[in-house]
Amino acid sequence: MRDLFDKFYEDKGPLGKWSSQAEGYFIFPKLEGPISNRMTFKGKEVVTWSVNDYLGLADHPEVRKVDAEAGAKWGSAYPMGARMMSGHTDLHEQLQRELAEFVQKEAAYVLNFGYQGMVSTIDALVNKDDVIVYDVDAHACIIDGVRLHMGKRFTYKHNDMESIEKNLQRATRIAEKTGGGILLISEGVFGMRGEQGRLKEIVALKEKYNFRLFVDDAHGFGTLGKTGAGAGEEQGVQDGIDVYFATFAKAMASTGAFIAADKEIIDYLKYNLRSQMFAKSLQMQLVEGALKRLDMLRSMPELKQKLWDNVNMLQSGLRERGFDIGTTQSCVTPVYLKGSIPEAMVLVQDLRENYGIFCSIVVYPVIPRGLILLRLIPTSNHTKEDIQVTLDAFSAIRESLENGTYKKMSANIVDAMEKEEAGE
Ligand SMILES: Cc1ncc(COP(=O)(O)O)c(C=O)c1O
Repeated sequence: MRDLFDKFYEDKGPLGKWSSQAEGYFIFPKLEGPISNRMTFKGKEVVTWSVNDYLGLADHPEVRKVDAEAGAKWGSAYPMGARMMSGHTDLHEQLQRELAEFVQKEAAYVLNFGYQGMVSTIDALVNKDDVIVYDVDAHACIIDGVRLHMGKRFTYKHNDMESIEKNLQRATRIAEKTGGGILLISEGVFGMRGEQGRLKEIVALKEKYNFRLFVDDAHGFGTLGKTGAGAGEEQGVQDGIDVYFATFAKAMASTGAFIAADKEIIDYLKYNLRSQMFAKSLQMQLVEGALKRLDMLRSMPELKQKLWDNVNMLQSGLRERGFDIGTTQSCVTPVYLKGSIPEAMVLVQDLRENYGIFCSIVVYPVIPRGLILLRLIPTSNHTKEDIQVTLDAFSAIRESLENGTYKKMSANIVDAMEKEEAGE
């Protein structure tokens, strides 16, 4: 009989297999220094485009002060226990009231982590008779939540209205037989490519089909909509979202998350979210920190304005230079280039070492083979100079990619990979 661990030596998984070439540099890189537009990577200053600190709150002095004071007051333990048992406080309730008001819903419930909260919310919203219809490009936490579902589920083609309708029809046929309902899940903003979910058109389908809409608005919260209430507000359909989710890990630059909906729905969910019932409550330092951040989202619209000035300068600059930035409708700025994984590795190294630009790189299997996606996250902290040096660097690396420089330079990486695959 095989040992359970044997398989790990044969196949480290789609990302793990690159570990010997990539770890510490492309995967698990260490960005050091205060979280800002410029950080330190391997001892050198780099313009940082890979931190989801949209509104520049992570190292904002007022935020740091509240975080520090709350840490001193509460420590990192308080409150001990799950919300239902011994981890519930007035401040959790206050945060929930303020979040609900901010996203224009009746009630909200604070979650200790976004990922687990999302998994449990999906789990709690459906039973075996219900049908889930969701976007094929959904975030991993949605996919994991759907995995727990004991009934039928259908994926639709990414943001494709025809496919959404087709799958709603299939779901309707099944739900009519089982006596269940339909849950449609979309993201407010798709985090890799930056497109907004087609919420307006999805909500319009409620005239024709009977379903409830659950939106993961991790990247839309705080960045989209007149007041920052997210993609639903931006598209004028916040009311049509039945359950709204956002994490504190992006615009709020913290940890934790929340869901918001009608009061009766939140009252049901708070008694049925397994990841909240059986895990520790969000700690007080983070609750106080979230209240402070939310206050800044409300009272400092200039942060969102500055963010969007930067987004517009970066995205229009890239477009003017002929870069393919896909169909982004948010701050997330993807740049698509054609090339192999080894070429992508040399390119990123050149960007970091010689041009001082740090952005995330995404390759196959996350995107189709032969494409390189460089993903830039603008923040309100970036300066015009940061954007200008980045645009110039991108023009330079595109030239090296197109004239074969990176192909030549990547020959030794290809060799090393081939040797590794052959087990040498
Ligand atoms: C779309 C989306 N949903 C959910 C999450 C998970 O949130 P958290 O980091 O709070 O666990 C993330 C990542 O942060 C995300 O990008």
